[in-house]
Amino acid sequence: MASAGLSTISAPSFCTFNAQTGLGAKSKPSGLSFNAPNSFGAFSGLKAVSPVQIETDTSFLGKESNASLQASFGPKRGVMQRFTNQLQPRASSFKVAVLGAAGGIGQPLALLIKMSPLVSAVHLYDIANVKGVAADLSHCNTPSQVLDFTGPSELPNCLKGVDVVVIPAGVPRKPGMTRDDLFNINANIVKTLVEAVADNCPDAFIHIISNPVNSTVPIAAEVLKQKGVYDPKKLFGVTTLDVVRANTFVAHKKNLKLIDVDVPVIGGHAGITILPLLSKTRPSTAFTDEEVEELTVRIQNGGTEVVEAKAGAGSATLSMAYAAARFVESSLRALDGDGDVYECCFIQSELTELPFFASRIKLGKNGVEAVISADLQGLTQYEEKALEALKPELKASIEKGVAFAQKQPAAASA
Ligand SMILES: NC(=O)c1ccc[n+]([C@@H]2O[C@H](COP(=O)([O-])OP(=O)(O)OC[C@H]3O[C@@H](n4cnc5c(N)ncnc54)[C@H](O)[C@@H]3O)[C@@H](O)[C@H]2O)c1
Repeated sequence: MASAGLSTISAPSFCTFNAQTGLGAKSKPSGLSFNAPNSFGAFSGLKAVSPVQIETDTSFLGKESNASLQASFGPKRGVMQRFTNQLQPRASSFKVAVLGAAGGIGQPLALLIKMSPLVSAVHLYDIANVKGVAADLSHCNTPSQVLDFTGPSELPNCLKGVDVVVIPAGVPRKPGMTRDDLFNINANIVKTLVEAVADNCPDAFIHIISNPVNSTVPIAAEVLKQKGVYDPKKLFGVTTLDVVRANTFVAHKKNLKLIDVDVPVIGGHAGITILPLLSKTRPSTAFTDEEVEELTVRIQNGGTEVVEAKAGAGSATLSMAYAAARFVESSLRALDGDGDVYECCFIQSELTELPFFASRIKLGKNGVEAVISADLQGLTQYEEKALEALKPELKASIEKGVAFAQKQPAAASA
């Protein structure tokens, strides 16, 4: 499969910040949105950053779910009637597979995906029994179909014909563990699942959530290369949660409107390799040195904050599902032809000397359409130093993943 070089947008002009959309003048309205004052007025759906307008036809809530919302939230008939008419399922729709769907992330993620009008079918796969999750989810009156697949013998059928595969399969952290401590178990899980993806849906977008992302994405790339189907534009490490956390923490700290805030996060997805570029925060925001230090460390340790609070019961699941659903929705919008979709994620990259790197990208029908290098220009001294400091750790994690996959060549197609 083609692995053509990606274009890099270096001019900062791609996104003249628009205070309303948060993502540039060209951004199309999307997400669940209203222009009437009501209970939903501030909800921007799962889009990266979105304006609040009613003339949108992309939303996580379809016509059916809107009817129940209307029932719950009372009259406002004129507004709600108009809203009902606007939120129809899209003409084009896509199939999404969730591998690890019975888990803490998989279940809420499947629910959020089931709510997208861009989705015609949600395929749930797990080695644990996923039938109950599927039966439960299938009772939601949104248009997409729910199919369950349990165990390796059903994996090929789960994957055939899907457009996006999301992989949250694997073990989560317990207090005191780093993401790298998960390597031994999750490396094998990701390898096996990506082998099946290569055999059954090699053209699908692949979203890797399983940690350590800094190593599991390079493992997936090697497996796809061994299978002869690697397209670097379609393999993504999901780092959206780092952006979601950065946006939330910055908005709270600086008393900004949540839906307006957009902080690019680059590097990788573990500890110091997570580098929020606070100087690139939109809307433009001034931070003291103490605020930069405090916010950077909090964003880097956001996952650990949750692991410790859960005290042995796992890591982030709800916020992760929310972030992963946002990345799925962005991918589907790009597949659907929306030309203004930008997300940060961990991909094969030429932005630095490292072979994989998280940065903001433009998503298109064929995956990564452009890498936004403008974010790395004009960094502060603090960010420059942090960028150099993260490189050795990120490099080692990437090399660990590559070495693992090269030592254990991919299994031949079944
Ligand atoms: N990228 C991120 O930002 C981020 C954030 C949080 C968690 N995570 C990672 O996501 C992963 C899942 O976390 P969780 O909390 O959902 O864990 P969980 O234990 O609740 O669920 C994992 C699921 O994967 C399933 N599974 C295990 N091996 C499998 C296989 N070979 N095939 C299919 N399914 C398999 C399990 O049966 C389980 O249902 C962990 O690796 C965690 O570290 C990533």
